[in-house]
Amino acid sequence: MKLLTLLLLAMTASSSCISDTFLFPRAVSNQTTINPFNYTELGGPFNWHRLNKTNVACSGGKHQSPIDILTEEVDYVESGSLVFDIPAAEEAKLSNLGSGLEVVLARGTFTTGEDYQYQLAQFHFHTPSEHRVEQEYYPLEVHFVFKDHETNIAVVAFLFQLSSTDKPVPPFESIFHHLDKIDTPGRSTETGSLDFTYLTAHLKSHAIYRYTGSLTTPPCTEGVSWYISAKPLPLDVVSFNKIKRILKFNARYTQNAVGEENLLKLAVEVMD
Ligand SMILES: *[C@@H]1O[C@H](CO)[C@@H](O)[C@H](O)[C@H]1NC(C)=O
Ligand SMILES: *[C@@H]1O[C@H](CO)[C@@H](O)[C@H](O)[C@H]1NC(C)=O
Ligand SMILES: *[C@@H]1O[C@H](CO)[C@@H](O)[C@H](O)[C@H]1NC(C)=O
Ligand SMILES: [Zn+2]
Repeated sequence: MKLLTLLLLAMTASSSCISDTFLFPRAVSNQTTINPFNYTELGGPFNWHRLNKTNVACSGGKHQSPIDILTEEVDYVESGSLVFDIPAAEEAKLSNLGSGLEVVLARGTFTTGEDYQYQLAQFHFHTPSEHRVEQEYYPLEVHFVFKDHETNIAVVAFLFQLSSTDKPVPPFESIFHHLDKIDTPGRSTETGSLDFTYLTAHLKSHAIYRYTGSLTTPPCTEGVSWYISAKPLPLDVVSFNKIKRILKFNARYTQNAVGEENLLKLAVEVMD
């Protein structure tokens, strides 16, 4: 009886091993679909609304991102009231989307003061920064995109400032180290291990700008809750040049102040 069970288990295990490898070869994980939009000519942000009917908010929305943050006017949140909690990961998929650089990591939560919880979907980079602070731009910006169980989106953003530091802070070192493997659009690879404790501590110990805007890429969906750390992270020159070579340029132009008419709509009013 015991022997028979063992024998059956062994047979099941080995046969499933064989059929898995034979019938279901490993999915190709070093490739990804590139974005249908970009930042050049007719693929660029002045024309996003014409690439797809679903992108109407890009040209008509009055709460579009990114914006120039005015530090005297923007809202601030108590940094202690937010919990940015992403568990360490062994690795994650890092993709060159043609007009973006993304790490897919569907683990981790962001909890706001009202005990409202979102789940991490992915994080990605923009160079130069999309948000400006008192008009100034930064060399790089990272967006952690969180979603709730419905369709609400919160983005936690960090700006980077060039610094004489010789290494990027975690978890970015484990990501930037692998950039050479994805120097072609559509290519994916794995990051090294990712540790988010530095970012959690950074977010907690500095002021945070808060406003409600939109996705900065098509379909430019509004109602996005932005939380932007007021203190930039350090970025070393070698990493910056590597990122710039791969990402090229992927910042949407600065939108009108929140609540004001869309700049594209205003621009066409005086043309015929
Ligand atoms: C990508 O994956 C495919 C299929 O597994 C493989 O043939 C190819 O060599 C890989 N390319 C690189 C650059 O790793
Ligand atoms: C940008 O996108 C447009 C529209 O899809 C395309 O025609 C163009 O070749 C793209 N340009 C670059 C540099 O990728
Ligand atoms: C427009 O966007 C929708 C939603 O993302 C997508 O399903 C559809 O394929 C897109 N159409 C074109 C022409 O790209
Ligand atoms: Zn973004």
